[in-house]
Amino acid sequence: MVSESFNQLLNVFWLRPETALWRYLDIAAMRGFRFEGRSLDFGCGDGLFSFIRAGGQFSPSFDAFQKTDKLDQFYAKADVFDAYDSSYSPLVSQAPEYTISVGFDHKANLLSKASALGLYGETVEGDGNSPLPFADEEFQSIFSNIVYWLDEPAAVFAELSRVLKPGGKICLMLPNSTLPEYSFYNSLFGKTGDQQWQWLDLIDRGRLSDNIRQAKTDDQWRALFEAAGLFVAEHKQHLPKPIIQAWDIGFRPMFPALMKMVDAVRPDQRDEVKAEWVKTLKMFAEPLSHVGNADDKANAFHCYVLSK
Ligand SMILES: C[S@@+](CC[C@H](N)C(=O)[O-])C[C@H]1O[C@@H](n2cnc3c(N)ncnc32)[C@H](O)[C@@H]1O
Repeated sequence: MVSESFNQLLNVFWLRPETALWRYLDIAAMRGFRFEGRSLDFGCGDGLFSFIRAGGQFSPSFDAFQKTDKLDQFYAKADVFDAYDSSYSPLVSQAPEYTISVGFDHKANLLSKASALGLYGETVEGDGNSPLPFADEEFQSIFSNIVYWLDEPAAVFAELSRVLKPGGKICLMLPNSTLPEYSFYNSLFGKTGDQQWQWLDLIDRGRLSDNIRQAKTDDQWRALFEAAGLFVAEHKQHLPKPIIQAWDIGFRPMFPALMKMVDAVRPDQRDEVKAEWVKTLKMFAEPLSHVGNADDKANAFHCYVLSK
């Protein structure tokens, strides 16, 4: 049985099912975390993940690809999702079960998309590498899946700790030291410099080579939390090697071509084509989601719930 959140993720990310799988396992790993009191989604992006995690639902004809840009620059590493205009309409069929006080991100277009979901009380644009524009002890609960994209995790933890109320909770997704080993680009080209693998840069698109800069052991992350006055209330390790490797390539290489093909489908046939596609994906995505052990120390990500 595919859970409703997995259904929603497959429907929204149908052209990128590897993203749906990853995010479904994120939702499972963060099961123990609640948004309570004044809450912050630090690096909320377009808000789709947090919306689905909150039990929100979209009509089947909505997807994450409604507004994209620079598809012709996909292989020059453009962020094709960084696009918005006022016709963006997320087709919400069921409101989320809770709301989040603040969604924070550095991309205005993504925040405009997030604002349309009815999930965030307000959105705030800012740079997560700078001091945060929030008061001391402002938040009771914070979620973030972006600390590993930032320059200095220690400085970010100090800021998150500053804006957290005593007794409040922070849920963080952070890469384990094993993650770079599972990346095809990193293990075959990054580490060896062997030119025959240079083409993998087209698939990596700067993710593991540049963006996902921080990968650390549990002990290393804990030392950083302690220095920021945070302690670990819960810890899970998710995303096993086969899932990371499936995601590392996934449908990504064909994405611009798939988008063109979808645009060429007659509008009155689109829902039917998509429904068949999503039904087929489920046959593979569901069993794949059970691969590996939920708490294997070799899994690629940590999910922490921290307190102060
Ligand atoms: C992996 S996505 C996570 C989005 C969302 N939280 C989720 O779980 O799907 C990373 C997000 O971090 C944001 N981000 C990256 N660098 C940032 C920075 N320096 N300041 C604020 N946000 C940043 C990106 O715009 C993007 O929305």
